[in-house]
Amino acid sequence: MADTDDRRAFFATAAKGTEGALRDELRELRLPAVKAERGGVRFGGTLRDAYRACLGSRIAVRVLQEVARFRCTDGDTLYEGVREAYRWDEVLDVRRTLAVTCALKNSQLTHSAFVAQRTKDAIVDQLRDTFGARPDVDKSDPDVAVFVHLVKDEATVYLDVSGDSLHRRGWRAKGRDAPLKETLAASILRLAGWDRVRPLADPMCGSGTLAIEGAQWARRIAPGLARECFGAERWASHDATQANVIDALREDFRACILPASESPDVLATDLDARAVAQTKENARLAGVPEIQVMQQDIAELGPAEPAGHVVVNPPYGIRLAAGDALIERMAYAFRTLPGHRISAICADDALVRGLKPLKPSQEHALWNGDLECRLFSWDIA
Ligand SMILES: C[S@@+](CC[C@H](N)C(=O)[O-])C[C@H]1O[C@@H](n2cnc3c(N)ncnc32)[C@H](O)[C@@H]1O
Repeated sequence: MADTDDRRAFFATAAKGTEGALRDELRELRLPAVKAERGGVRFGGTLRDAYRACLGSRIAVRVLQEVARFRCTDGDTLYEGVREAYRWDEVLDVRRTLAVTCALKNSQLTHSAFVAQRTKDAIVDQLRDTFGARPDVDKSDPDVAVFVHLVKDEATVYLDVSGDSLHRRGWRAKGRDAPLKETLAASILRLAGWDRVRPLADPMCGSGTLAIEGAQWARRIAPGLARECFGAERWASHDATQANVIDALREDFRACILPASESPDVLATDLDARAVAQTKENARLAGVPEIQVMQQDIAELGPAEPAGHVVVNPPYGIRLAAGDALIERMAYAFRTLPGHRISAICADDALVRGLKPLKPSQEHALWNGDLECRLFSWDIA
């Protein structure tokens, strides 16, 4: 029986360092009981609320529904906990496939493959008792994705409401060198304090991620609108009532979209002609063709009118070749932008040194995958 009104516990995952930004975003989406934690944000609410997070959050990587939490110190307590704590026929039947992924930390169980296997056994054994047959495993494209987090011998079992990682917005034509994930780009814009009113410029746009996320955010284009299907739409509990709930939510989000004429100017430039062509194509696919895209060296970046916000992801020394000459060109460009705010996501402090004696007005640690970075901002007098 579909029930989108009963209250459940959810956890929206986020890249390390972006949990506070996700908390603020989910509060703006008016989700109930929002609380930031390491690795993400908890919220309570209904399945409808979880769909709102999937559709509306730019920063969440996944939205998970918690279905069980218990202490477990060995394979047997894990098996019993998974088998007893949840009615798996809520979401699974013999026609649907499942996959189990797990993450372990500071626990007596230390082998993730073993934890995933025992969890899967407990689920399929319960279902075999119910149906007389068991569902199959499909690791690459399961109907029901189960996550087990085992921390200090406490297991939390989640179902993936969102499905595929939410950073896959559906507009990226093809990847260039070191593109930012869309969810990280959205976090950077929020953490940098872009107000969606001042003009935005990314003078090293690569594939255009920051500019596209900025243009979509300014126009209130919900990132999930391009998704054909979320994970929970493949659960056994999904029915016509739930389909109507999601359709209505999509309509609500669509009704909020602002025309390009009401949003600030967004400029994306890059030295590389292939990056320029790709950003143009990506902007078109993302429904924000109004972004102005040009081939230009960062040293030629001029002031916006009114003064704007420059947000940039320069080449990282260890991911793309970077040189001191480039830092000097950037510092030269930024010094000639009075009244502008500059934000840069950097893997080292070369740009901070290049802009001395100007000091960053803000610094925030965040992780691009495994790479620890700093988001620096400067307000140019
Ligand atoms: C790390 S990539 C940016 C990736 C981008 N944020 C994305 O998500 O696709 C850095 C970009 O800086 C560009 N670049 C390097 N030197 C430049 C310069 N002097 N002026 C403008 N762009 C430059 C490179 O062509 C590259 O596309």
